Amino acid sequence: MNIIGLIIINFFVISVESSHFRGASFSWAPMSSGSIKVDYRISWRRSDNNHNCDDNTIASGTTNMEGDLCSDYDCFLLEYYCTDYSEVDDWTSGRNTLYINPPTSKFDLIFDGNDWVVASGWSLLITVDLTPRLDNGFINSSPTVDYPPVVNLQYGCKHSIIFPIYDVDGDIIRCRWASGKNECDSVCRETYNALPSAVLDQNDCKIAYTATDQVGLYPLAIQAEDFMKSSPKVPLSSIPIQFVVNIYDVNYGSCDTGPTFVSPTPDTGECFSVDVGEQLTINITVTGITRLNSIETTSVIGMQRSAVTTWFDGVSYYMSVLVNWTPTSEADGQDHSLCFSARDTNGRYSDTRCINIPVGAPIPTAVERNGTTNSWNIVFDRTFSLPESYVELPVVETRTGSVVFTLDTGDPTYVTYFPTSKNMHVTFDFAFDPTEDYYVIIPEGLVRSIGNCPALSLVKESSFWTIEIGI
Ligand SMILES: *[C@@H]1O[C@H](CO)[C@@H](O)[C@H](O)[C@H]1NC(C)=O
Ligand SMILES: *[C@@H]1O[C@H](CO)[C@@H](O)[C@H](O)[C@H]1NC(C)=O
Repeated sequence: MNIIGLIIINFFVISVESSHFRGASFSWAPMSSGSIKVDYRISWRRSDNNHNCDDNTIASGTTNMEGDLCSDYDCFLLEYYCTDYSEVDDWTSGRNTLYINPPTSKFDLIFDGNDWVVASGWSLLITVDLTPRLDNGFINSSPTVDYPPVVNLQYGCKHSIIFPIYDVDGDIIRCRWASGKNECDSVCRETYNALPSAVLDQNDCKIAYTATDQVGLYPLAIQAEDFMKSSPKVPLSSIPIQFVVNIYDVNYGSCDTGPTFVSPTPDTGECFSVDVGEQLTINITVTGITRLNSIETTSVIGMQRSAVTTWFDGVSYYMSVLVNWTPTSEADGQDHSLCFSARDTNGRYSDTRCINIPVGAPIPTAVERNGTTNSWNIVFDRTFSLPESYVELPVVETRTGSVVFTLDTGDPTYVTYFPTSKNMHVTFDFAFDPTEDYYVIIPEGLVRSIGNCPALSLVKESSFWTIEIGI
């Protein structure tokens, strides 16, 4: 055997024995029982025997496992339900939830090991703080995020990596490069410095990058953190997002001739609010001048993919798949994501898109009057986020049906939001006539659901919101 043959065999042995980690992300939320719920995605090399996954594995709900998440006091096995896999990119990815009895009110959780896809040791750090928040007395929840294990970027082209990240408390969210042994071990920016020209927009949690680095695999480690609006310097919690960038090159076409998504495929960041028990169907359709090879998804436990359909319209090739999901009660009150990308038979990829699927949009359930004042408390059935743009709240005189007054819900003099205690206080600066009846119209988008979808408008009947004067 010649020397080249030996080198190839050696390389092959090494790549089978190790390099099986493909990233993970974690988030946490307090439970009313006092325990904390840790949700995670974890991804591995699919050709590793411990991490087999195919359509049967997903359908049967069998689990794989590897590694532990540890506090100073205890460790928890990271078992997962495979949700997605890629044959060509050789990954298996899954999700699961752990319930942990907090050892103290403030602690760290670490997941570490030795075999990143390249580089060596991995480490991910989650900080948990269960002391009541200074701004509202409630216990914080961390931001939530999901992202594919591998994102494929064509050499020489401009790309953006946009994380579908949310915070149930409506906090300020910022992202930064992970730093130090516990947050990133062998793939820290300060030492490993993968993709040095990639720019992380800390406020929008997205990365802008023109792929000028060598073709290959690059693990990236990001921390997402939430901050109180009243104290925007000290993070309430910190969670990791780690994944792999694959820079590939093809001797074919230019940057914009790869597969592209077409209608009715949702756009990046689009929001689909769905209720428990209700079926959501997402149609992903991609087109290209080359025959298409696959559509890869990163999905929620329980989502089902249809078989792909393909066709050619005489000019372009098409591939389409439906993703169906009927959320169960475990998914309620949380934001979920679906990410997807497509590949053609020349090995070119589309961009990667992620959409948000909050389960259960907030519904106003009551308007409580505060004594004989013009102050009212609008109660919602769940936590919500503040709107991006504020709507007006019209007050209607019942007898004439005319709007006598509109309240700007963005005016802090008259409106205060309490997202985690599920209500908002409004004061009407208006002299009501005690001989008339009035009602308030609750418009769509008064608040948003946790995943950023506008809340539903639920004026069931005008009498529900009646303002009684002079009692
Ligand atoms: C998705 O929508 C397109 C356009 O309406 C349609 O042609 C295609 O058949 C749909 N995909 C599936 C899998 O039903
Ligand atoms: C009710 O009104 C009183 C008097 O204006 C005020 O002090 C109190 O904060 C109000 N409570 C709520 C829940 O709006």
